[in-house]
Amino acid sequence: MAYETIIVEIEDSVALIRLNRPDALNALNAALIGELGQALADADRNDKIRCIVLTGGEKAFAAGADIKEMSTKTFVDAYDEDLFGAHVDAFTRIRKPIIAAVSGYALGGGCELAMICDFIIAADTAKFGQPEINLGIIAGIGGTQRLTRFVGKSKAMDMHLTGRFMDAAEAERSGLVSRVVPAAKLIPEAMAAARKIAEKSQVSIKAAKEAVNRAFETTLAEGLLFERRSFHALFATEDQKEGMAAFLEKREPQFRDR
Ligand code: HXC
Repeated sequence: MAYETIIVEIEDSVALIRLNRPDALNALNAALIGELGQALADADRNDKIRCIVLTGGEKAFAAGADIKEMSTKTFVDAYDEDLFGAHVDAFTRIRKPIIAAVSGYALGGGCELAMICDFIIAADTAKFGQPEINLGIIAGIGGTQRLTRFVGKSKAMDMHLTGRFMDAAEAERSGLVSRVVPAAKLIPEAMAAARKIAEKSQVSIKAAKEAVNRAFETTLAEGLLFERRSFHALFATEDQKEGMAAFLEKREPQFRDR
């Protein structure tokens, strides 16, 4: 499918989605958000795709929501159209793993979009920030909640109240990103991680994603119960038998997603 604000490439069983509004540092406008929603939903439905990598350009993953587009909106406009709300809720319902590969600026909605993904691999050039405060607004697609869960209250408050940026080393130190790699290696590293995920049984991959996400959404006791039930349930799969047999027979497993 031809898009105007993103580029989708499918390599092996991985969909690589690139935000592509370089002149505006990939600012998230309505067109981009709509196309991204479409591409993610298509990838989620496509049986040939087993993992998704979301990236931007070298200078910016995304420099936030499109300020030009938002600048004249009134409260009623934003409330009435549920600005970003429904689209972003749909992003969080994608069941396949999504890796954010971040180079350059991931600011405001860009930082929030990266945090909606399942994990973030950062180039050493990455800069994260929630500078909405400089525009007289606050984060609107999860930044106050997700960043706080990633890095804790003190650092999240610092980021949201001062609007300062965090570099890749600080982001890794604080638990915002899972790994930092040289910029030139960002896409190969993210694609290699995606291919590794794609080799696994997709039944257990889905269960793992759901269970880790419970840690963000419920109490420890409920999350542990959810994990235990999913763990028990996976013994009903052929892939559990195959995975364990392969280990004992010292060979690679042949998972069939069953
Ligand atoms: C629209 C943007 C933009 C944005 C950059 N551009 N960010 N356009 N919305 N968020 C445009 C600039 O206007 C400029 O266009 C071009 O991209 C290059 O940007 P420059 O500023 O010239 O580049 P530079 O000097 O290198 O500075 C880079 C930057 C700066 C530090 C990232 O652009 C910046 O501060 N951007 C805004 C970051 C921000 O406040 N993000 C939060 C947005 S609010 P022209 O046409 O002049 O060349 C938000 C709310 C989230 O995200 C809530 C829900 C999603």
